[in-house]
Amino acid sequence: MSLRLDTQYADQFVSAGSLEKLRPAAEAAFKKVRDPAERSAQPIGWLTLPEDYDREEFSRIKVCAERIKKMCDVFVVIGIGGSYLGARAAIEFVKGANYNALNKNGPAVYFSGNSIDPDALSELLEICADKDVCVNVISKSGTTTEPAIAFRVFRELLEKKYGAEGAVKRIFVTTDKTPKPGTLKEFADAVGYETFVVPSNIGGRFSVLSAVGLLPIAVAGCDIDAMMAGANDAMKDFADYDFTKNTAVRYAVYRNCLHSEGKAVEFYCSYTPALQYTGEWLKQLYGESEGKDHKGIFPASAVYSTDLHSLGQYVQDGERILFETVLIPDEPRYKLDIPKAALDTDGIGYIAGKSLHYVNSKAFLGTVLAHVKGGVPNLVVSYEKADEKNFGYLVYFFELACAISGYILGVCPFNQPGVEAYKKNMFILLGKPGYEGQTI
Ligand code: PA5
Repeated sequence: MSLRLDTQYADQFVSAGSLEKLRPAAEAAFKKVRDPAERSAQPIGWLTLPEDYDREEFSRIKVCAERIKKMCDVFVVIGIGGSYLGARAAIEFVKGANYNALNKNGPAVYFSGNSIDPDALSELLEICADKDVCVNVISKSGTTTEPAIAFRVFRELLEKKYGAEGAVKRIFVTTDKTPKPGTLKEFADAVGYETFVVPSNIGGRFSVLSAVGLLPIAVAGCDIDAMMAGANDAMKDFADYDFTKNTAVRYAVYRNCLHSEGKAVEFYCSYTPALQYTGEWLKQLYGESEGKDHKGIFPASAVYSTDLHSLGQYVQDGERILFETVLIPDEPRYKLDIPKAALDTDGIGYIAGKSLHYVNSKAFLGTVLAHVKGGVPNLVVSYEKADEKNFGYLVYFFELACAISGYILGVCPFNQPGVEAYKKNMFILLGKPGYEGQTI
């Protein structure tokens, strides 16, 4: 496997000695992530997951995915945050943004429970009306409002369509192992749904390579063995602290250096729409892990060249608070050439016969050079191609770098206390039992 971090477009923005200055903190952060005491105190199970996963459950996921593929036309995946973004990122990374229209061997996979919007939910109900449907509800806590609402709605639909017993066979629950009172696990066990486990030592945004991501990813037709193998390669490659060789450590250090040079926003950019949700996943991974105690780099994302025609102006000329981290494959999933034409009315005759990948690579280089000249440092992460193995590798790389980076920054990367504030207000406004008399 090869993942490369090219820092040549960032080095000029890093003051002399500042990388060296951060190296002791990076080494301490690397050791902290691996420290047995820290690993029992924090949910760091993802660190060894590519080796330590439950083989019995992994086989059951594959068998279940095949059953689901035969049983339905639409597979509705209900979840939010870490129980949503990883699976969607993986499926679109490997299969493209049009994965549903192109998939001939399985159901269309739709995501729900990631908002409270009545229109989004109603549209999906309409899509499901005359189709055979299966549902995977995913919630580690089993008490999150958004997926709970969507699950109620889809449970009612399935019970109407197939009867109570028929619905049981079509509902799959991914949640915490322990049935706490009033949670999804308790309900699932009581009703008899097939369940999968969100490991207790893995937080939502680090859970894509557990059952949380793997069941939907397998139903969408991706090879989950290859995905785990890619993550396993990364785990081995990044096992030692060696600043010159460990790309995850180097990336964590560079982003913190750029941050200390006044770059408050990291823009995750790609040149393929298939990576839109990889950008969303990265935003959640880094935003929720680092944005606390009034610290953190604000993560944003863009797909170029699309967004060069919208955000490009700001990136080139706006406030100089940005750096970009570009994700770029060595080769695309499809090969396509620009057709030759008799008349050059569109003025692109000079690139006729060239591949779109070649033109896209020049758009990338031209953009990087322009943005660097405009004062925006670029870190370039290259990977071989958009397949399962590379996705697994990238996931492990970014998760490890995120943990190291959070510790360098001086925050705990594994909690998300700030997410509770909106929930508390919403519960007070809705009159949830237990919130009586509380004020906003
Ligand atoms: O990363 C996290 O922990 C969060 O984003 C959660 O995944 C998200 O809040 C959903 O939580 P749950 O899976 O408990 O429904």
